Amino acid sequence: MSFKCAVVGCGGRSGGHADAYRLIKRGKLVACCDLNKKLMDQFAERYQIPGRYTDMMEMIQKERPDVLHIVTPPTVRVGLMRRAMDAGVPGAIVEKPICVGGKDYKELVALEKKSKTKFVVNHQLRHQPRIVEFLDDVAQGKIGQVRFIDASAVFPMAGQGVHVLDLMFAFAGYNPVATVFGASSGYDDIDGHHPTSKTAECLITFANGIRAALQAGKGAPMVDPSAPGWGHKRVAVYGTNGFRYWWMQGWEKSAPSGGTERGVTDYAAVDVQAQAGLTNAMFDWLEDDKKVSPTNLKTSLDQWLVILAGYLSTIESRPVDMPFDPADDLLDQFVKHVRS
Ligand SMILES: NC(=O)c1ccc[n+]([C@@H]2O[C@H](COP(=O)([O-])OP(=O)(O)OC[C@H]3O[C@@H](n4cnc5c(N)ncnc54)[C@H](O)[C@@H]3O)[C@@H](O)[C@H]2O)c1
Repeated sequence: MSFKCAVVGCGGRSGGHADAYRLIKRGKLVACCDLNKKLMDQFAERYQIPGRYTDMMEMIQKERPDVLHIVTPPTVRVGLMRRAMDAGVPGAIVEKPICVGGKDYKELVALEKKSKTKFVVNHQLRHQPRIVEFLDDVAQGKIGQVRFIDASAVFPMAGQGVHVLDLMFAFAGYNPVATVFGASSGYDDIDGHHPTSKTAECLITFANGIRAALQAGKGAPMVDPSAPGWGHKRVAVYGTNGFRYWWMQGWEKSAPSGGTERGVTDYAAVDVQAQAGLTNAMFDWLEDDKKVSPTNLKTSLDQWLVILAGYLSTIESRPVDMPFDPADDLLDQFVKHVRS
């Protein structure tokens, strides 16, 4: 079938979603909307999208899309997701970070439990060809038993830490998290709608014993000195019999005969493939309930709880047993703590 798809929010990131349709066969963009009409018109012109709106509900009612791409700032997403769900939209791809704090996390946990709308969070790195290959290698036991995962980003947690945390969960086989011991410092409100610690580290223990280190912000490894701040996402997974290491511009892996193989990556080219992979995963899930997208809302909320645990761990100077029930105002408590 050909899915009818529509974009909500025609700002900077929306082009990444639209570009992927060059590689997509099962769907097309039929409509878009933004509160800013000029921006919406420019986007619609550029991608030749016929349906043009400044109101999401009007767009949903007139176009009846199968899939929404919600590409708005995180601070306005819960309301949009709730309205999409109430309107019976079958599927929605929602940009990261999925939350901002404890209150919206709890609202989304409640929404996820009752939602018939299938929500996919836009962690497109999970669909990068090299990541997919490495995940297959790990699943096939090519590096033996996974012992340690090291993930980092130089942009803060709410900006890019969430992407590498998603990869960490994938390499840990989506095992539940048992404990989080974190330290964060400073506060940033990126672009006025991504509140987050300036820099944060978490030592994570998964229930199956895998240990992992997550770092986001200043002080995290710079993988390519010429890359901009967002260009330093990386994840390495170490097993009893080898390793796999991915970063945005390249990769390394242990060779079966000993030694290390390595290569370079054209990130911009593979990012479009990754975005198409994520959109296709949404279509797969819509076509078959059993093919749940790996970056589904429930998994992303489990990941967000790790970030909240990092705040709590910093405030109370202790490891946090998972899962836990975060206070609605946990982010405010954290901000107060770092400013005191
Ligand atoms: N996955 C990635 O690689 C990646 C990369 C960049 C940004 N992002 C994420 O994408 C999201 C959007 O980022 P951006 O840079 O496009 O932001 P932006 O501010 O440039 O664009 C957001 C747009 O949403 C519109 N909007 C807000 N509320 C709306 C509503 N109710 N109805 C319709 N439109 C509405 C705004 O008018 C704006 O044009 C952020 O959460 C960001 O973190 C993800």
